Amino acid sequence: MKSFYLTTAIDYANGSPHLGHAYEKILADVISRTKKAMGQPTHFVTGLDEHGQKVQQGAEQEGVEPQSRCDRIAEEFKNLLDKLNISNDDYIRTSETRHKKVVSSILQDLFDRGEIYQAEYSGFYSMRAEQFLQEKDKVDGEWPEIFGEVTEITEKNYFFKLGKYKEWLLQFLEDNPNFILPSHRQNQVVEFLKEPLNDLCISRPKERLTWGIPLPFDKGYVTYVWFDALVNYVTAAGFEEDSFPDFWPADLHVIGKDILAPPHAVYWPIMLKACNLELPKQILAHGWWTSSGAKMSKSTGETVDPLELVNEYGSDVFRYFVMREMKVGQDAEFSLERFESRYRADLGNDLGNLVSRLLHMCTSYFEGIVPEHFSLSEPENVLMSKWEEAKEKSLDLFAQFQFSQGLDELSGFIRSINKYADECLPWKLAKSTEEKDQQNLKTCISTMVEALRLANALLVAVMPEVHTKINERLGLSLTEDWTKDLSWDNRLNGKQLKEKIILFPRK
Ligand code: MSP
Repeated sequence: MKSFYLTTAIDYANGSPHLGHAYEKILADVISRTKKAMGQPTHFVTGLDEHGQKVQQGAEQEGVEPQSRCDRIAEEFKNLLDKLNISNDDYIRTSETRHKKVVSSILQDLFDRGEIYQAEYSGFYSMRAEQFLQEKDKVDGEWPEIFGEVTEITEKNYFFKLGKYKEWLLQFLEDNPNFILPSHRQNQVVEFLKEPLNDLCISRPKERLTWGIPLPFDKGYVTYVWFDALVNYVTAAGFEEDSFPDFWPADLHVIGKDILAPPHAVYWPIMLKACNLELPKQILAHGWWTSSGAKMSKSTGETVDPLELVNEYGSDVFRYFVMREMKVGQDAEFSLERFESRYRADLGNDLGNLVSRLLHMCTSYFEGIVPEHFSLSEPENVLMSKWEEAKEKSLDLFAQFQFSQGLDELSGFIRSINKYADECLPWKLAKSTEEKDQQNLKTCISTMVEALRLANALLVAVMPEVHTKINERLGLSLTEDWTKDLSWDNRLNGKQLKEKIILFPRK
């Protein structure tokens, strides 16, 4: 079976990681773990984008070589992945030899086939955005702030024949209406393509920038950073190696909405088409974490350091928060109050409480051995049908990458288990010596254990550590395949559970 090949954007090596970077890696990780739980093997790649002017300037300011600055930043990003429990199979850095070789090979091939040509260009150039600008980029006659200092330059450069593929791309988007998710983003790309599409300048003269991959056919130039960075997706799939067809085409590129059009939705499909390579199957563009309403970014300064929260609450709480709080595709404002309230309510009161009181009851009433249930009545049937509904809806939502809504369904089910306990009152039944009450107590505990086992199975992708801890208490091994694990079958009846555990201590 071909692996589900899944990538994230590769982060710029020009600063420390923040919440936005962390979120994207978690989103991709949750997708990867969900696919695995659905029985599909995955190949999940993330990495670091190391070339370009900003990286070179950053190194100059620090008085170090760009490579050693990148090495340090790579460690920082990799450490974050580790702390967030990201299960990537590969980490690609664009300064690696394997990548430089692939970029050179692709450039040479495109040059040989006349897809790249040299021309003199006069125009406006933004240092900050590392790109040439056109009149249409002005807003009210001025260059917007995002471009920083804009200068007029004339120079010889190499161009990739992007423009000639415009009609082809429009047709491709029409034929593949689900290429970009959410779908309104695909419409934006179509709108973007209604404007003239110029050829893409893919070179930077070495006098201006040395920190890049040299053009194989003209050593006086290095490759434009986006042309270099996008190629990482085929490098990591083993381009020109025997294993390439095992991974390519990518099944999903996960990226932020800021880098959809033009890089991922226009340059990349056209680059692949020009190289006679298959296009990725889908691109998922997520929204932004904002702080005081503005995109959280290094330049605005107001960033959230994910490590602080992970160190205090653990990676699963952080993962749960970002996945629950942000509807994929939309923006979300970060607030510590929201974070704390999700921790207290969804995790502490609902899930944590259920686990600790259920294990406590099972230990004190039955020495930890899950009792056999007796005949099921209305409350059990209601809970079972709630499970069927929550399972169906959340699996469907997870499959569409709607994790926030899927987790909402799951939280609803966890609350239903607590509600069931409040109706059956096992702590009261335990005090009764009546035969009927003792039977009801057994049914109640057995039902709650089964409901918890099932709810926990659905948590595997978002909270892998909590999932493992709960399974360990229930005497189960790790959930690997949902097709086997999601049916209500009271498989734990007669099994020994472990003592209670406090998963989310009060802060
Ligand atoms: N290096 C390029 C990507 C090249 S991919 C071939 C880049 N790097 S970045 O570091 O600026 O951003 C990396 C990813 O993080 C992007 O997908 C970007 O959208 C995402 N985020 C950066 N800030 C963000 C938020 N405030 N919120 C959510 N994600 C955002 O772009």
